[in-house]
Amino acid sequence: MNKFAIILAAGKGTRMKSSLYKVLHHVCGKAMVEHVVSQVEKSGVKEIVTIVGHGANDVKDLMKDRCVYALQEEQLGTGHAVKQAKSFLGDKDGITIVLCGDTPLIQAETIEKAMAYHLEKQAKATILTAIADDPTGYGRVIRDGNGHVLKNVEHKDATEEERLIKEINTGTYVFDNRALFEALEYVNNDNAQGEYYLPDVLEILKNNQEIVTAYQMDSLEESLGVNDRVALQQANVLMRKRINEQHMRNGVTLIDANATYIDSDVQIGSDTIIEPNVYLKGKTVIGQNCFIGMNSELVDMTLENHITVKSSCLEKSYIHSFSDIGPMAHIRPNTILHERVHVGNFVEVKNTTIGNDTKMGHLTYVGDATLGERINVGCGTVVVNYDGKNKHHSTIGHDSFIGCNANIISPVTIGDGAFIAAGSTITKDVPDNALAIARGKQENKKDYATKLPYAKKD
Ligand code: UD1
Ligand code: MG
Repeated sequence: MNKFAIILAAGKGTRMKSSLYKVLHHVCGKAMVEHVVSQVEKSGVKEIVTIVGHGANDVKDLMKDRCVYALQEEQLGTGHAVKQAKSFLGDKDGITIVLCGDTPLIQAETIEKAMAYHLEKQAKATILTAIADDPTGYGRVIRDGNGHVLKNVEHKDATEEERLIKEINTGTYVFDNRALFEALEYVNNDNAQGEYYLPDVLEILKNNQEIVTAYQMDSLEESLGVNDRVALQQANVLMRKRINEQHMRNGVTLIDANATYIDSDVQIGSDTIIEPNVYLKGKTVIGQNCFIGMNSELVDMTLENHITVKSSCLEKSYIHSFSDIGPMAHIRPNTILHERVHVGNFVEVKNTTIGNDTKMGHLTYVGDATLGERINVGCGTVVVNYDGKNKHHSTIGHDSFIGCNANIISPVTIGDGAFIAAGSTITKDVPDNALAIARGKQENKKDYATKLPYAKKD
């Protein structure tokens, strides 16, 4: 059986009141439409047609060749939107699942079950429904006395009596592909919104004596349609719960799962402990036995095992095992910390590689540099990488000692085993094992302090 999917993503999303197109709004770090595409792919559907209109190029840039795209130039309704896929699918045999790009919580398992149900019932159309305590805004599913689906009525078109119905259209359907495109020819826009409604296809097929069924989902949660920011927040809460439970089942300790914010694609190894108010974003990968302390943000980071991070911001970098970061440290892109590196409080590191066992405990900036192994970088050290116009690179050798408050004016090379005296401003290379002192000499003027204005007079 050929399985196709059509994802509706052409609407502007007026109710979002946003310059960003609706389906591109993020839920747990991923655009809503991408969530839908990922689940469709997981369900084994090979050919996906995404209907684009508003923000077409942005949607295409996001999903590239994971789908083909049909342009809906004017947004005349969901039925009109599906019709735009005709040139791709119109002449094919198989079943087609239609989903909205604004239902990010739908899961592959549900899609598979709905397709199986549809085939088992030999239906031409199956609508996925759910029971909603507050069905306001959703289409209502009208059944006859025997419980058979008759049609869908949109909220705006519904009578007072129909509005009492709690079974809603989730916006997801399975169709016999040919029957879908044939029936779409008969959909009109004679309704409250003047739109071509996709669910009208159900009534058309029903009137042609075809089998139309409903697959009622266990929970409303998966079908949440995001039309405004309130629903966007709800979707985030539900998705977060799903993600966090998955990690906890995999052996990750979350001290407070309601206050831990993990994007969909993040991976975490077992026995890692995560404190509240931690954000793990993008493609972050964390190994086993790590500790991520409160108020930390990790973006596209890779952490090996046994790493401690306390109250710090880390971005697009790689940290090898047994290193520790923070509190209040900032790891900026393209940094590599090798094993047992210590980056302490108020230390910022950018575009720098640091060798095993090197330590920088406090108040340091290291940018555009390569540091060897077993170096001690004293408090207040700055690698001065920027001359106002260009960035320069410095290298610091193994086993060297950088005294407190040193300025390393890049580009320089400091040799292995070198010793930089505290307070030095280093502008020239330092050979291996040399002591470099570059600071004003101290002079003590005898009794001079007593002549100064603030001196104590007796
Ligand atoms: C739709 C259903 C409603 C269902 C609800 C579930 C219709 C007429 N109504 O209503 O029964 O309960 O979803 O969430 O189908 N879109 C296009 N082109 C268009 C119009 C819409 O691509 O011309 C896309 C939108 O980008 C969106 C999706 O279709 O992703 C649904 O459109 P939306 O306007 O959100 O429909 P609802 O009012 O939510
Ligand atoms: Mg909607």
